[in-house]
Amino acid sequence: MPYRLTVLGTGYLGATHAACMAELGFEVLGLDVDQAKIDRLQAGDLPIHEPGLEDMLRRNLESGRLRFTTSYEEAARFGDVHFICVGTPQVKDGYAADVSYLDAVVESLAPHLDRECLVVGKSTVPVGTAERLAEKLVRLAPAGMQVELAWNPEFLREGYAVQDTLHPDRIVLGVASERAEKVLRDVYAPLGEVPIVVTDFPTAELVKSAANAFLATKISFINAMAELAEAAHADVKQLSQALSFDERIGGKYLNPGLGFGGGCLPKDIRAFMARADELGAHQALTFLREVDAINMRRRGRMVDVARELLGGEFTGRRVAVLGAAFKPNSDDIRDSPALEVAVTIAEQGGDVAIYDPAALGNARAAYPHLGYADSALEAARDADVVLLLTEWQEFVRLDPEALGDVVAVRNIVDGRNALDAEAWRDAGWHYRALGRP
Ligand code: UDX
Repeated sequence: MPYRLTVLGTGYLGATHAACMAELGFEVLGLDVDQAKIDRLQAGDLPIHEPGLEDMLRRNLESGRLRFTTSYEEAARFGDVHFICVGTPQVKDGYAADVSYLDAVVESLAPHLDRECLVVGKSTVPVGTAERLAEKLVRLAPAGMQVELAWNPEFLREGYAVQDTLHPDRIVLGVASERAEKVLRDVYAPLGEVPIVVTDFPTAELVKSAANAFLATKISFINAMAELAEAAHADVKQLSQALSFDERIGGKYLNPGLGFGGGCLPKDIRAFMARADELGAHQALTFLREVDAINMRRRGRMVDVARELLGGEFTGRRVAVLGAAFKPNSDDIRDSPALEVAVTIAEQGGDVAIYDPAALGNARAAYPHLGYADSALEAARDADVVLLLTEWQEFVRLDPEALGDVVAVRNIVDGRNALDAEAWRDAGWHYRALGRP
């Protein structure tokens, strides 16, 4: 392989990118400022739950193609191509994205760059960030103009991170020179036939924000239909299915339920709105305010439906909460709709018992005052109502009879429209779902 790669920032995105690039045959050095994280990764102990990634990490550590460090000096010496994979969280006092981790990477790396190399941003950023960082890079690097920036947004989903990285739908390259384009085409050549869009910095940055805004809008659209279906005594699941046969609409991201959470969609649409405002495009994204509002209303609606089922009061009632992660196949609890529902019910006097196959540790650490259980059956023991809030396969496959044997009352609310309503009703359950009669 002609190039040696570094990956700066080893969270979800960086850890996945580093392992996958090593898997493709590159020599890769992963860097993070968090020494504890680096120690774990170097020992083959993946700090996150991501199917297939830990095996890939270990395989590539053993082969010697993958290593980790905390030293920017070492990274600068090692790498021909440096991928920036740090996060851009929501600022504490507003909607905008906090890009300070990106600036910190450039400020730490650039002073050591004394030869030709390419620095590639993968983080989701407010449009205009790449242009600013490119200037800073050239200004701070001893090699000056021999150091170039490119923008190459990442579209991976948690839970499918390896698959999405090795088989992307498309690759977007925001580049300022043919040289940068060639380097990145070479790097991604082992992925085989993938559509590549070559463009400028602002377009590359916008593609990512636009993709997330579109997905969020699609989810909130179907959840708005769920609100309407509830008012009109219609069935949003059948409505969604009927829409999905129209190829112009498609069925993906059209599952009605508790809505979107996680470390990306919620904060990315807010940052997108904030940036549009800063740019003077005040009207362009006001619809995203509605997208966000519809999404947040679903969480309140879930609590209301559960309370209704219990006759209007949570106090002294046992509530089984199935799911803590913001989605299945992940242990990520950032902005998790499931946990927000659990917290609200506990605040209203409910006695919650939460179970999740992967996110219990994270949930316990973040909300130590809530109740937890070590299995779905244990969470459901003596429950007055069971809430399905994250659609893990383990929950979808639950046997209504077996669960019915342990609960106090056979009440269930399907917050993800994931269960077979008939099967649960046949087993004597009072089954309720969001957006369905
Ligand atoms: C998302 C984008 O999909 C990805 O391209 C981007 O790089 C990062 O943000 P991710 O946050 O991992 O990825 O999760 P995703 O699978 O998109 O799900 C987001 C949320 O939407 C989850 O809470 C999920 O439960 C919810 N969702 C998804 C729905 O409520 N309904 C749907 O139909 C689909």
